[in-house]
Amino acid sequence: MTNQLFRIKPYNQLQAEAKSTTTGFKRALSATNLITLGIGAIIGAGIFVLTGEVSANYAGPAIIISFLIAALACAAAGLCYAELTSMIPISGSAYTYAYATIGELFGWVIGWVLIVEYLFAASTVSVGWSGYVVSLFGNMGIHFPTALTTAPVVYNDVTNGFEMSQGGILNIPAMLIIFAVTVLLVTGVKESARFNNIIVFIKLFVIITFILVGVFYLNKANWHPFIPANQGSFGKFGFSGILRGAAVIFFAYIGFDAVSTAAQESKNPQRDLPIGILGSLLVCTILYILVAVVLTGIVPYTKLGVPDPIAVGVDAIGVTWLSPLIKIGAIAGLSSVILVMLLGQPRIFFVMAKDGLLPPVFARMHPKFKTPYAATIIVGLMAMVLAGLFPIGVLSKLVSLGTLLAFSSICLAILILRKKQPDAHRPFKTPFSPYIPIFGIVCCLGVTTFLNLYAWMAMGIWLCVGMVVYFTYGKKHSALNKAQK
Ligand code: ALA
Repeated sequence: MTNQLFRIKPYNQLQAEAKSTTTGFKRALSATNLITLGIGAIIGAGIFVLTGEVSANYAGPAIIISFLIAALACAAAGLCYAELTSMIPISGSAYTYAYATIGELFGWVIGWVLIVEYLFAASTVSVGWSGYVVSLFGNMGIHFPTALTTAPVVYNDVTNGFEMSQGGILNIPAMLIIFAVTVLLVTGVKESARFNNIIVFIKLFVIITFILVGVFYLNKANWHPFIPANQGSFGKFGFSGILRGAAVIFFAYIGFDAVSTAAQESKNPQRDLPIGILGSLLVCTILYILVAVVLTGIVPYTKLGVPDPIAVGVDAIGVTWLSPLIKIGAIAGLSSVILVMLLGQPRIFFVMAKDGLLPPVFARMHPKFKTPYAATIIVGLMAMVLAGLFPIGVLSKLVSLGTLLAFSSICLAILILRKKQPDAHRPFKTPFSPYIPIFGIVCCLGVTTFLNLYAWMAMGIWLCVGMVVYFTYGKKHSALNKAQK
């Protein structure tokens, strides 16, 4: 029994699977497609929504430092992802690497944790999408009933408590966007990537316009004090506030790893996956720092505690024509995050089902569209339920926690594979190993300690459910177990 739990998926077998031409996937994605997929998944609710909460409540103008700290943790994880995807270009992402290095049970746990990252992120972001769409329609004089645009329970970040939302029954716009994206994803990866390219272009245009316009309205007085004095409790400004801010704003970087889930649809995965992962991360990091500099420079941070801080920023400097454009950029941004997250999750399920750890239905491939359609539909339905009923605040912290755990496992996998497979071909090599992977593990695990207790409790429950599923299904049906019996 112990043997099976720690049985490692052999490296040779993974190589063969990566090269296999019988998976049914269509190799349609170029390096540019992969970079735009990454940017599609990264820029979203983090920059358009959470910057407000972080600068107004935790870090003030020093949110710039919070962004830099989170970027360092992601850069370390990104370099490790780049090495692993170039060695093992399989769509299972962190799940596959954990299975290949530590064993089946650990692989399963990471796969289960990735559900929190991808599926829950799509739902969280669709709730933000719904908020922006309702507000844009509101500006045009079209108002929807609250009961149909709000979940029955909301989570209050400031009080850390759950509250019944006033009159909320179901968040229908959030469910509709997930439905629409699911339909698109079923019809083809090329079509999905093309649509993603268009929305990524719109959001980049809007962000760059904000930076270029805002730079003329900078007021140095807004950066004083740069690090507001701590207000007596941990995380409320001061140095601890910067760290707490980094933990919350980490959400803004989540998504670059989704590039690795398109491994089996990439034309030249060993070269292009590292380009997609590191390229998208670099572009987004630069943009984030610039947005943080401009936003905190044009408006006092105390005014940013709103759900649409960037729109509030441009209103404050009187550039009101830019405000609707920002909202459109935000809606585009959030749409592409939903799209790429819902693209990644079924592909991870697909690999897990091929390994026998999930039922075979998850590995069904559409004969014409060449997409894992059954998993895509199941994921879409699950995301719709979450999006319609659950509050955004707690889900987003859970997403960050899940991602940080997955990132730590990636860094650990590098350390293990460098020892076990020292001579394997590595088209991309993480520089300064073992220091960068160790730095990644310390940073990612360090950041998790700043997330709130609810997120940890929810993760604990989620992992218990995962264990039940593994021991009642996966363990018995594991393909590796059957093959080695
Ligand atoms: N990074 C993604 C966002 O900010 C998840 O929406």
